[in-house]
Amino acid sequence: MPAMAQAASSKIALPTDISSERLITVTAAPTRAKLVAMTFDDGPHPVLTPQLLDILKARRIRATFYVIGRNVARYPDIVKRMVAEGHEIGNHTWRHPFLTQLGSASVLRELDRTSEAVYKAVQRMPVTMRPPYGALSRAQRAMILKQREMPTILWSVDPEDWRRPGAQVVANRILGGARPGAIILSHDIHAPTIKAMPVALDGLIEAGYRFATVSMILGARDWSKLRWRLPREARAKS
Ligand code: NI
Repeated sequence: MPAMAQAASSKIALPTDISSERLITVTAAPTRAKLVAMTFDDGPHPVLTPQLLDILKARRIRATFYVIGRNVARYPDIVKRMVAEGHEIGNHTWRHPFLTQLGSASVLRELDRTSEAVYKAVQRMPVTMRPPYGALSRAQRAMILKQREMPTILWSVDPEDWRRPGAQVVANRILGGARPGAIILSHDIHAPTIKAMPVALDGLIEAGYRFATVSMILGARDWSKLRWRLPREARAKS
């Protein structure tokens, strides 16, 4: 399986502007437009993620999901729904390890297995990655960009929702931190985060913000319209 993943992820054509050297690490987009990217990590969760998708759909908001590969393998239908509703899928590794403790081959294996699971579910590959805990050395970030053409996407707004400070606090932190070009971090595996979203999202809308996926806020092509073709040798094995 790793051989297939490597073939699949090293030969895909990527939007050139998202893989440029200066985009090795991204915490926010350089824009003055009132545009933010909502990002949700660690899912899909079988109950909470569909609830979040309903909330986003009701507001026609497109978000980016940094999914954990083994969750994708368990709940591929939720990933299918994400893509059908215009969301972008990013790579958040297979089992959510501290990547700083792994060698390059293991890091790439974490990413490849995940990209492969996403491809299997929705016939598309993530074009960006986010390291668990935000932990990734500069050398590792450069290695991933070079080997897999995936820039590392961090964030500029962190409501620390995983500490479960309460839905209102999460919403207030998101609203307080929002700036043009902000990349906002949250997790779709915590019930209070889902509960916070209607208030947070409606507040952002009221403040005049519009929403983009990570690729779009960085000026790349609309990820939902990309179509990947696996290399022949990989297709033969799938
Ligand atoms: Ni995470």
